[in-house]
Amino acid sequence: MASPKPRPAIESLVSYQPAFGKPPAGRPIRLSANEGALGCSPHVAEALKNTDLQLSRYPEPQDYHLITDIAERYQLEAERILLSNGSDELIYLLCQAYLDPGDEAIHTQYGFLVFPQSISVAGATPVVAPDDGMTVSVDAILAAVTERTKMVFLANPNNPTGTMIDEAEVRRLQAGLPEGVLLVLDLAYSEFMGNAMDYAADMVENSENTVMLRTFSKLHGLASVRLGWGYFPPEILAVLRSIRGPFSVNQIAVLAGRAAIADRDFQQRSSDHNNRWIPEVTSRLAELGLTVHPTVANFFLVQFDGHNGPRADQALEFFRQQGILLRDMIPYGLPDCLRMSIGTDAEMEQVIACFADLMSDSGPGASGR
Ligand SMILES: Cc1ncc(COP(=O)(O)O)c(C=O)c1O
Repeated sequence: MASPKPRPAIESLVSYQPAFGKPPAGRPIRLSANEGALGCSPHVAEALKNTDLQLSRYPEPQDYHLITDIAERYQLEAERILLSNGSDELIYLLCQAYLDPGDEAIHTQYGFLVFPQSISVAGATPVVAPDDGMTVSVDAILAAVTERTKMVFLANPNNPTGTMIDEAEVRRLQAGLPEGVLLVLDLAYSEFMGNAMDYAADMVENSENTVMLRTFSKLHGLASVRLGWGYFPPEILAVLRSIRGPFSVNQIAVLAGRAAIADRDFQQRSSDHNNRWIPEVTSRLAELGLTVHPTVANFFLVQFDGHNGPRADQALEFFRQQGILLRDMIPYGLPDCLRMSIGTDAEMEQVIACFADLMSDSGPGASGR
């Protein structure tokens, strides 16, 4: 018996499956997925305890209260907001809605792998715009545009490099795209930087072709409940609404999201924690002879030279044996690097101590020095 064949685009897909690996015994320190370091607001647990959840009922297709809360928190127009099952869902839906086989969509060289995957699932062709070192190049993106280009993805700050481009560059990108090419601004990590990217909302409100994606998975620490949202020109919102599953955002996510967005103190603590550890980790790992690429997000890209110390794969395994999970960067084309999220204070002290062991004379790779 022959098994049914998926579409050719699906058969040839190199799919993005976050490889967390088999966890070591006990509870590993997971620094491999860029989740919020401090968990989530304590008000989330209270909200879930004090509610009369009706689990037998379908949730609201779009929860009015959560949308209103988001609009008030960020001074946005509520009618332009669409909630989603994580921002991943919106990336996927945008590709399904706007790409056909034969179309091209541009993503950046060291960019989030869900972009090329979603483009390919839609049957379109992902086109890579080379980065300038570890930073997105607007010139390279604009040079990659052809008459077949339908969409451009920009994560700002970018995952996995942790770098960002400034407002003038993002606006130059928008201005340089032909009319009708959709610009997707994925701001998953921007909230760690306070109001730094507030201008993106203005770019959405004053164009027909620009959308902004946001998530509760990072600063708000709610990765597990799968809650994201986007800010759209009305026509694009209507299209996405017409193709999304009606109940993709569940009641628990809505309750958690409402409690999280109201807790400004937690958001500030979470961002302060991040800003404190960025220089600390950078300088302490540099003292050990490691290269840590500059970052503005809640993770680091650590480079291993392999000649005067361990290789990235040896380091990954060394950390795994200590119960610390980092992310291997081979799928991103950065085999000499590992990505490490910022964890709690105790986790960061432990991980820095492990880096010191790793780089000591008896650490893995020592014989190769
Ligand atoms: C750049 C970027 N966009 C989107 C996401 C997905 O976020 P969500 O959990 O909301 O689906 C991630 C998650 O790692 C990310 O790094």
